Amino acid sequence: METFYGYDDLIKQFFARGQGHLFQHWNTLSEDERNSLFKELKSVDFSLLATLQSLIGTRYPEHEILEPAPYISLTARTDEYIEALSIGEAYIRKGKVAVFVVAGGQGSRLGFEGPKGCFPIGEVSGKSLFQIHAEKIVKYARKYEVSIPWLIMTSDANHTATSEFLHNHRNFGISDNDLYIFSQGMVSSLDMEGKLVLENPTKLFKNPDGHGGSLTALKSSGVLAELMGRGIETISYFQVDNPLVKIIDPVFIGAHIIHNAEVSSKGIPKTGPDEKIGVFVRYPDGRMGVVEYSDLPEKQAKETGSDGTLKFLMGSPAIHLFQCAFIEEITSGGSINLPFHVAKKKLKVWQKGVFSEIEGFKFEKFVFDALPLAKKSIVFEMNRQEEFAPVKNLTGIDSVESARKLMSNLYKEWLRNKGIEIPPAVAVVEISPLLAVESDDLPAIVLPNEKKVYLT
Ligand code: UD1
Repeated sequence: METFYGYDDLIKQFFARGQGHLFQHWNTLSEDERNSLFKELKSVDFSLLATLQSLIGTRYPEHEILEPAPYISLTARTDEYIEALSIGEAYIRKGKVAVFVVAGGQGSRLGFEGPKGCFPIGEVSGKSLFQIHAEKIVKYARKYEVSIPWLIMTSDANHTATSEFLHNHRNFGISDNDLYIFSQGMVSSLDMEGKLVLENPTKLFKNPDGHGGSLTALKSSGVLAELMGRGIETISYFQVDNPLVKIIDPVFIGAHIIHNAEVSSKGIPKTGPDEKIGVFVRYPDGRMGVVEYSDLPEKQAKETGSDGTLKFLMGSPAIHLFQCAFIEEITSGGSINLPFHVAKKKLKVWQKGVFSEIEGFKFEKFVFDALPLAKKSIVFEMNRQEEFAPVKNLTGIDSVESARKLMSNLYKEWLRNKGIEIPPAVAVVEISPLLAVESDDLPAIVLPNEKKVYLT
């Protein structure tokens, strides 16, 4: 008969819920280790555990009468463009916008050790994703003569490395007062039988709670209150893996204001039914949302209209504007009740005295599940070539390779728009965000006739 001196009550609860396996190694632990395990297990929320277990084996609910979301198309936008631009610019100048990058992910799929944001994406400069985002903020702050807060959401896996990286590079020009780094929440992963697993003898195996955790983290970290205290009204949200993102887009912001939206999202026409991006939908109650590519049934993904275009055409590049008041409202209870999505994944766990890789389930919340909570939200079509270069893999589709090509193509386009000649030898162009965040910022210059050109 095993004895768990002093810990019996808690341990009984775990045995009663079929989680007694967590104590198989109890007799091998020192007193300190037992205390660590005890502390870890005390934090387990059994009602959340039951919710996670209930999700195993379920599928995303298929909505029979799902419709594509209406959107403001590039052509329809032209009428609104001038007004939106001037409203957006005035709003930014008044210091009402903060920039928010979700950066909880690691660079492992790029063969890179460390936070994905530290990956050197600049083909000529070697600048990291973080540096490119930061320098855009610096440029916009100069342009609009205003300080722009930069929010970075990290995860347990990369918080320290991210903070150190920024600190060691003096935040790439962002003042400490304008930088807010905070960590997202974690959630337990489960094995194939719905049981909790350990990462090491005294720690549960957990995964970051998805970028859906970002709105709760904003609230619980106190950052939302601080921003609102500074007079910030709108948060410009994007993913760390897109070096082309217009982190502050006055036209988009202006349209968001004109439409009195609580959330606005950029949209791009999908390249085809198989493109791995979520699609914008309208639910039967009229609210907007996004259905993730992996959740959209194949039949709906392939459905076309009479002219052959995809019915669910507008895809999400994961660029949104959130009103602070909206986030405050939906997190007023402490957190938002967004659904968890379940994914079967390989987990490196500690089991039966050894580390091993098993199949199990990870649970994540998605930020776009907050869209249906908004009373008013718009989808705003954007030009893919101008602001979407996702870096998901090292080579191939949505890769380091493709993103660098897209960056160079766009920068060449800026030069052409400005009437700047590109000499024949020039194959790659990179432009520092400190020099230009759009073609209008470019001074009159003469390019060297070299293979790779970096303009600073
Ligand atoms: C994501 C979107 C997809 C969108 C596409 C555009 C999801 C589930 N899907 O796909 O709808 O069309 O990008 O490129 O997001 N992150 C965190 N914490 C987490 C999980 C993710 O900060 O717990 C961050 C990552 O650092 C990254 C971003 O969120 O910046 C996207 O995560 P990822 O897992 O790469 O999503 P995708 O499947 O690429």
